[in-house]
This record gives sequence, structure tokens and C-alpha cells, in this order.
Amino acid sequence: MQQQVSEGRVLIDSGKNSNDASLMIEAIGVSKIFGSGDSMITALDAVSIGIREGEFFTLLGPSGCGKTTLLRMIAGFEHPSSGAILLDGSDISELPPYKRPVNTVFQSYALFPHLTVAQNIAFGLQMLDRPKAEIAETVDRMLSMVKMEAMKDRLTSQISGGQQQRVALARALAPQPKVLLLDEPLSALDLKLRKEMQIELKRLQHETGITFVFVTHDQEEALTMSDRIAVMSEGHVLQVGSPHDIYERPANRFVAGFIGETNTLTAEVMSSTTDRISLRLGEGLELDAELPSGMTPKERVTLVVRPEHLRLSFGTTGSSLPGTVSNVVYLGTDTHYHVRLDSGDELVARVQNSSASDLQFGIGEAVAVAFEPSTVRVLRD
Ligand SMILES: Nc1ncnc2c1ncn2[C@@H]1O[C@H](COP(=O)(O)OP(=O)(O)OP(=O)(O)O)[C@@H](O)[C@H]1O
Ligand SMILES: [Mg+2]
Repeated sequence: MQQQVSEGRVLIDSGKNSNDASLMIEAIGVSKIFGSGDSMITALDAVSIGIREGEFFTLLGPSGCGKTTLLRMIAGFEHPSSGAILLDGSDISELPPYKRPVNTVFQSYALFPHLTVAQNIAFGLQMLDRPKAEIAETVDRMLSMVKMEAMKDRLTSQISGGQQQRVALARALAPQPKVLLLDEPLSALDLKLRKEMQIELKRLQHETGITFVFVTHDQEEALTMSDRIAVMSEGHVLQVGSPHDIYERPANRFVAGFIGETNTLTAEVMSSTTDRISLRLGEGLELDAELPSGMTPKERVTLVVRPEHLRLSFGTTGSSLPGTVSNVVYLGTDTHYHVRLDSGDELVARVQNSSASDLQFGIGEAVAVAFEPSTVRVLRD
């Protein structure tokens, strides 16, 4: 596990380090400042990430955190205020967009409205002077891939938003770039088509071996599609890791809260070594947890534990936290129980509705909340 401290923030990268020969894209200390004086905006602040060849890499974060800005710099439409971007080991900071082996599917699809669907897809190939027969063959293959064969002769101004998005994708994939940048490419699709396209995109990426850099603010989409995810907030990359890492081992409160539902608890530190920590939660529970490397615990720390890792039982048991059910939300496959602990903390426990004989808890019922120490994550902040 690699750790870098930039501007007082800790960036955790559970992948290989930046000497990794298979890195396709590297951003090294990249900052971007727009405007000046009072209207100055730091869109990116010393961002360093490495994206491996052939991986599905996702930039995930809320609106305005700098995802598009980073993508535009990889594409060459924007220049870093400081820092460098390497592609395949070479500094491409001065290379214009059209000389980079990179294609982009923009947040606004930017199709040519006066050209047909097929002409839009052929456009990049014509610019590259590919032979006519090859262009025709590729266009057909791309049309079938995005299921737009029937509309190939329509103008792109005469098709729906979702259809435009698929044409934009086909147009960007047609010249087989080394890197495909996708800026929220599925946002205009309805849920069903979106799910289909998620699977389709993943398949395409797998088949072509093209490095995908995918931007989304949808955490579920990021978790299901990516090999690795960079979680961004306010111009910083807070954590880089596999979906499993990001979900189960969030580096801080922001990541924990942004990726799925979670519970936070305060615990008293009883003792610690370099990698383990003994904690007491209220009166009811003592536990031993993993201490993130490099963390110096204070007297109290914050813990996160996911709702699916909490177990509920009636009354109080030995090592558990006593509380009262304050709300019950039935969700079909599972039920969310909101529990107010005697200590005052509020927790949500998710219980799968796997059989009719499952335990059911009512509002106002006294319950005990327990969890495995291995499912608890001690936070840095
Ligand atoms: N050309 C520009 N001039 C001034 N400020 C800009 C410019 N482009 C982006 N910004 C600002 O930089 C910050 C990052 O913008 P960016 O477009 O990268 O966000 P984003 O993460 O892509 O958000 P969204 O999810 O809404 O697309 C925002 O505060 C934005 O207002
Ligand atoms: Mg954006």
C-alpha cells in the first residue's frame, strides 16, 4: 500500500507505485486554477494519480469537484497550471488534443447535428485518412455495437438524448484510441438502458483492452463498473482503490459517507500498537480493530461500520450495544432498522429478508446491536 501526503492530506493508493511500468496515464502534482483575484477557483489541487494500461478507472465525486477538469487535461483541452501529465511514460503537457492517442465522450455529446449517425461515427476515421472499405466496416460494427443500425441515416439532431449518447460513444471508439475518456456518458439514459449500457461498456472495454477513464457522480455505477476508483472532493483525490477497498476500507469520513450508506460511531481508545487498537464503545462493547498504518490515535476515534454488518437481537447480550428501534423501512429484499443507542448515537442496520422466519423488530422494541470487529474501520479524520 502506497501513501502520499500532499498538502496535509493523505492519499492512499492501494495499487502499485508510480514507478509501475504499466501505467498508461500519470498525473503528477497537477493543479488547475481558473480566473484570478477574487474570482480565482482552484479546480484541482496537486492531484497525483496513476492509471494502468487496460484498466477501467473511474473518477468519482460530487458536482464541481474537478472531474471534468482532470479529464480535459488528459485530453489536452486544458493545460495544468502546475504539474505534469504523462501518457505512456512521456510528458504530453504540450501536445495538442488531436496528436494524443486519446478520445473523449463529452458530458454534452458534441455531435455534428448536420451529419447523420453513420457520418458522425465515420468522422474520426476520415480525419485519420483510413481506407474507405475499412471505414465502412468499422462504422457498421460500431452501429451494431450501440444498437443504432436502424437509425444510421438519421441526422443526430433528430434522435433522442440517449441515442445521441450511444452515437457519441461509437464515434469515440471507432478509431480505437489507446485511451477513452468518458465524461458521465450514461447520464441521459433511463435506468434500464443505463444498466444495459453499463454492462455493454464493461464488455467493450474488456474486449478492446482500451484504457477507460470514466467520470461519474453515481457511486453505484462506479462500484459496479470499475477496476479502480479515485474518489474526489473539492479538487483533491482522497482515495484510490478497488471498489472493494473503497467500500470496505474508506480512508476518511467523506469517502465513507459518499460511497453507500454507513454508520459512524465514536469510541474511546484503551490502548494501541502500530497496527492494532483496543476500543471501548459506551458501556456495552469492547473491541480490537485494525489501525490504518501511519495513524496516531487520539483519546477518541471515529469508527465506520456498514449497515449490512450490524446484527440485531432481542434485549441485551454480552458484547453488544443496547438501543431501541426508532424506525423500520421495508425495502423488499431487505429491511432497514433505525436504532437509537442508549448512548444517543443513531445506527441503521440492514437485515436481509431471506426467509419468512426472519427475526422482525418493531418500533420501540429494545434490541442489542453487535458486529464483527473485522468489519469495523477506524478513520483517519
Ligand atoms: N472554464 C472555467 N472557468 C472557471 N471555472 C471553471 C471552469 N471550468 C470549471 N470551473 C470550475 O472548476 C470546478 C471544477 O469543475 P469541473 O467541471 O471539473 O467539475 P465536475 O467535477 O466535472 O462537476 P460536474 O459533476 O458538475 O460535471 C468548479 O468549481 C467549476 O465551477
Ligand atoms: Mg463534469
